[in-house]
Amino acid sequence: MVQEKTYNGIDVTIASDYEELGRLAANIILERIYSHPKMTLLVPTGTTPLGVYRVLRHQNPKIFKKATFLNMDEYCILVDDKMMLIPETHPNSYRRYMNENLFNRITPEASYFPGIENVKELGHYDNFIKNLGGIDLCLDSIGQDGHTFGFNHPGTSFDSRTRLIRINKETKEINRRLTGLETPEYAITTGLKTGVESREIIFLVSGERKADILYKVIYAVEPTPDIPATILRQHSNCIWIVDKKAASKLG
Ligand code: GLP
Repeated sequence: MVQEKTYNGIDVTIASDYEELGRLAANIILERIYSHPKMTLLVPTGTTPLGVYRVLRHQNPKIFKKATFLNMDEYCILVDDKMMLIPETHPNSYRRYMNENLFNRITPEASYFPGIENVKELGHYDNFIKNLGGIDLCLDSIGQDGHTFGFNHPGTSFDSRTRLIRINKETKEINRRLTGLETPEYAITTGLKTGVESREIIFLVSGERKADILYKVIYAVEPTPDIPATILRQHSNCIWIVDKKAASKLG
């Protein structure tokens, strides 16, 4: 059963479990696509959105044929002093993840990832997004250290744009445990500003391991780069959906 609660002035939908959280988010995405088939979406990877993608890939693939998908990040490696995206065939690749979990089953108008050109030209992807007309809907999740919109670790400026980052130790270790694979050292990620400029955001938080950070995001005295996801409190059109386990410390 879904519950609606307000914590520190933030309206939060509490799903009973991971499956329900995925269904709720997928239903909102589908509603928006039905009324605006040409929409542009910014989407994450990780374990949190898998339930959403599971629902979406079982829809009629034609629903997505006018939609454009943009991903938040992709891993990078240094080869002979040259920074490169990891190959799409690499087991860690987010291009591969998106193909396996969604794009092999639906056929969007287009799908994009932030590329290596953002190393030299900070915000190249942001300009690209701007030329597309901006992001209509962003599906967002959070890391245990509060990172959001890709890999924007604690300390990242709220004005950050798409760029190369070095993945912090904690996230490397967490992603290693989640995937069973060694986490690459670098990634190109959208910035906090890139994500927060989306016209609408669905913010998902799932599982016991996110309960502490969700508490901090909601109750921090004010939005702060020390807890990057607090930037979402400044967005006027953000739908917060969490599951019971993630909400377990909210009181
Ligand atoms: C991917 C995302 C990260 C996220 C991680 C784990 O690596 N790029 O931002 O921290 O997945 O996410 P989740 O906790 O949803 O599994």
